[in-house]
Amino acid sequence: MTSSSSDPIKIGVLFSSSGVTSAIELSQQRATILAAEEINDAGGIDGRELQLVLRDPASTPARYATLIEQLIVDEQIRVVMGCYMSSTRKAVMPLVERHNALLFYPTLYEGFEYSRNVIYTGAAPNQNSLPLADYMLTHFGSRVFMVGSDYLYPYESNRIMSDLVYERGGEKLAEVYLPLDADWDSYLAVAKRIAAQAPDFVFSTVVGTGIAHLYRAFAEVGLDPYRTPIGSLTTSETEVAAMDAALGEGHLTAATYFQSVDNPVNRRCLANYHRRFGDHHVTDMCWEAAYFQMHVLANAMRQCGGDDVNALLNTLPGLELDAPQGRVRIDEHNHHTYLHPRIGRLDRRGQFEIVSEASGWTRADPFVISHSLVEPPGLASPAAEVQR
Ligand code: ACM
Repeated sequence: MTSSSSDPIKIGVLFSSSGVTSAIELSQQRATILAAEEINDAGGIDGRELQLVLRDPASTPARYATLIEQLIVDEQIRVVMGCYMSSTRKAVMPLVERHNALLFYPTLYEGFEYSRNVIYTGAAPNQNSLPLADYMLTHFGSRVFMVGSDYLYPYESNRIMSDLVYERGGEKLAEVYLPLDADWDSYLAVAKRIAAQAPDFVFSTVVGTGIAHLYRAFAEVGLDPYRTPIGSLTTSETEVAAMDAALGEGHLTAATYFQSVDNPVNRRCLANYHRRFGDHHVTDMCWEAAYFQMHVLANAMRQCGGDDVNALLNTLPGLELDAPQGRVRIDEHNHHTYLHPRIGRLDRRGQFEIVSEASGWTRADPFVISHSLVEPPGLASPAAEVQR
């Protein structure tokens, strides 16, 4: 099929509006819509409108695979924004690669992956697990209880966290997994076990609707977040907004963006977002990655004149953008993103007070070559003047 130079450019959008992770994925979807509308309001891609084609994969890996193939083959779409759970990214990757399409993935994940056809804009383990391990072991103690949802990401993330804990002289008391749709009683049983084992902190990679159960059960058994906090990689403002926000108070999350980041870009984005979707919506780390990756894509499309994947793959590496979290950069070598690691502590309103942050951007080390916050020589950041 040929397209004329004034045709809209179709972009596939695969975030779930149903299923266990729909709250965070709808947040990613709204961010994608907001950014696309901003791009179109500013004239699109040299006059061509971005046209989003949205589908609901229902938090189910097989649906992601079916829908991405429909988008690529039937709709002739070259670029897709999508996926939250790593199981869903793994399900679409072979199809994206087979059809030489391009996936932008705006979610923190376990690393140990590179694809020519994926741009990773969420945190790699050295951008969230590593700072969280250092912070929690320094401030709370060395005895850790790990709890996660029962799928790929929590297993891999706990494997990495276990190495970091052992290297720092810590001890793992337990590693527990709950089904994605586990009920209240299951979480209550885990919270009772946590109370009985009295760890110094809990490391959580629970996702989706289970997050509210975990924090409520924690309070129910009388655990005090100021003595035994949960340190998480997955609990964001959006999941806290879906529970009684006060239940989160005192718990911590490592992320590369919080709504509370105070800079002009974030303030402007928040104002646009609230005007477009209403004041009641909060933002979160996955929202922010979904937002800035659309602007990175638009800048790349303007430079290479459209959505040809090979041209985009030549253009994207090295691109930089002033994102709500700070300046970000698509890595020339590994398709991940230079991001700004932070640790936040929840207040009663479900917002994070930033208690620690890296002094600048941190290059992604997806294969966790370094186990230290100090980058080894091979991972040094590029000179500031290397900008496109
Ligand atoms: C995740 O599954 N990458 C959160």
